[in-house]
Order: sequence, then structure tokens, then C-alpha cells
Amino acid sequence: MTLEFKNLYVSVEGNMILKGINLKVNGGETHAIMGPNGTGKSTLAQVCMGHPKYKVESGDILFDGKSIVDMSVDERARLGIFLGMQNPIEVPGVTNFDFIKAALQTRMGKDEHLRVGKFILKFESTSQELQMGKGLAHRFLNQGFSGGEKKRNEILQMKMLEPKFTFLDEIDSGLDVDALKLVGEQVTKQKSSDLGLVLITHYQRLLDYIVPDYVHIMINGNIVKTGSLELITKIDQEGYDWVKKELGIEEENKKPYSLGTCATKTMV
Ligand SMILES: Nc1ncnc2c1ncn2[C@@H]1O[C@H](COP(=O)(O)OP(=O)(O)OP(=O)(O)O)[C@@H](O)[C@H]1O
Ligand SMILES: [Mg+2]
Repeated sequence: MTLEFKNLYVSVEGNMILKGINLKVNGGETHAIMGPNGTGKSTLAQVCMGHPKYKVESGDILFDGKSIVDMSVDERARLGIFLGMQNPIEVPGVTNFDFIKAALQTRMGKDEHLRVGKFILKFESTSQELQMGKGLAHRFLNQGFSGGEKKRNEILQMKMLEPKFTFLDEIDSGLDVDALKLVGEQVTKQKSSDLGLVLITHYQRLLDYIVPDYVHIMINGNIVKTGSLELITKIDQEGYDWVKKELGIEEENKKPYSLGTCATKTMV
């Protein structure tokens, strides 16, 4: 498996967010992406999965050498691409169990059938490994789940679907210290020579449990520096100012509200 972002420019509602991303992830590799808030880390994950709000302006995303930018979300999922979301959405009316079962069934060929008994056993043992409450399987997807339960549930999906390429977007946020260790260990257990893994995180603590091969720093919609573990320690201790100084990166000026917007807000 290889997943490659080639000189990728992506806009959201007319604003260019990603500005020439180049990144290649091979099967068996773990990459960490760190960077200040609002620099485009989640945008990269979302555009890779095919979220319709994110528009590829130029460049390409290649999975095993083939472009996926014109593929729908489900086509990408069928290829084996998975996203553990920063903010998993709630889906009332669909149980957690049915959701994962349907996702697995959809990925199968026409002549294949899900072996329900085997599926239930795996669902139960994986839920237990992640120390998830028994009732969660039959509750509506993410509805009323605590922050930490939602994140564990993303990992449950990953472990059930066994993707070839996984983005985990701030999987550590909302997890207590014990859960962080547990989730970290479970993700590490899932690593294989085939799986390409990209972790988006703000903190070293996750990377103590899931050790990356490469660490990338993203600022203002671009990967500005790539290194290894020592980069994480430096960021944890010193933040990002040194990177900006070293590379001469200016802070992007946030646009103030236009007068029109302010007026509309006042009127409302
Ligand atoms: N759907 C959207 N509509 C409008 N703007 C958006 C949308 N999605 C992202 N943006 C903007 O794109 C920029 C990058 O957002 P993104 O979520 O990718 O940042 P991030 O690096 O993941 O930040 P964080 O560390 O806070 O999660 C932000 O300024 C954000 O407001
Ligand atoms: Mg984000």
C-alpha cells in the first residue's frame, strides 16, 4: 500500500487551506502530523476520505499509484482507507452494531456473505479489549457517548474494518490517562507491515504509545519540516515559534469580519 499526496491544494468555501502538500506513506509506516490549531491537519484527513466540502484545486491523491480524488467516500472506504474522526458525528436511529456490520457488508463482493457469528464474536472481543461498556453496541452511533467513548468507538471501527490506510485525527483528545494507554496499545497492536498509519496529534503523550517513524510539522497549510522522535520532544517543550523563526514563516493574518458581516450580525 502507498498513499501519496502530490502538490495538493485544497480549498474550503473559497479559502485555500492546503497549499501544496507533498507526503508519501508506505504500508508499514507510521507518520505523525503536528501543528498549531487551524493549519489544515483535519482538512488533509477529510479531503483524503472524500468529504464533499473540501475542494481539490490542484495536485493529486494517489492510492497504490491511482488517483482517488474523483472517487466517492464509499469507494475510498472500499479501497481500505479509514478515518478516525476528530469529532465523530452522532447518528440517531442507527445502532453502533448495525453500523459496523453494514460497513463490513458493503465492502464485500457480490458473492460474499458476512458470517454473522464470527462477526459477533469479533465485535465482542474487540469491544472488551477496548474496555467498552456492553450497552454501547446497541446504542445509536455516538449518540450521548462521552468524549472518550466516541474515540474508543473510532478505534473499534478501525479494528473491525482492518483498513490498509488509516488517519487518526486527535484520537487522544478526550481520553483519560488509562484510556490513552489502552487505545495507544491497541492501535500499536493493529500495526502491520501492510498498514499505513497517520496520526494527527498535539501532544507527545500519544506518541509514547504509538511510536511514529516520521514526524511532520504542518504550518499554514503546508508540511514545513519532517524529522523523527526528537522533533516531538522539542515541540512539546518549546511549541512552534522556533520552527517559524528557523524557516522565516510569518503568522497568517486572520481576516477581520467584513463590515457587511458585522452589520448582519448586529441586525440579527
Ligand atoms: N467546513 C469548513 N468551512 C469553513 N472553514 C473551514 C472548514 N473546515 C475547515 N475550515 C478552516 O480551515 C482551517 C483549517 O482547519 P482544520 O480543521 O484543518 O485545522 P486543524 O489543523 O485540524 O486544527 P486543530 O488543531 O484545531 O484541529 C481553519 O481555519 C478552519 O476554520
Ligand atoms: Mg483538526
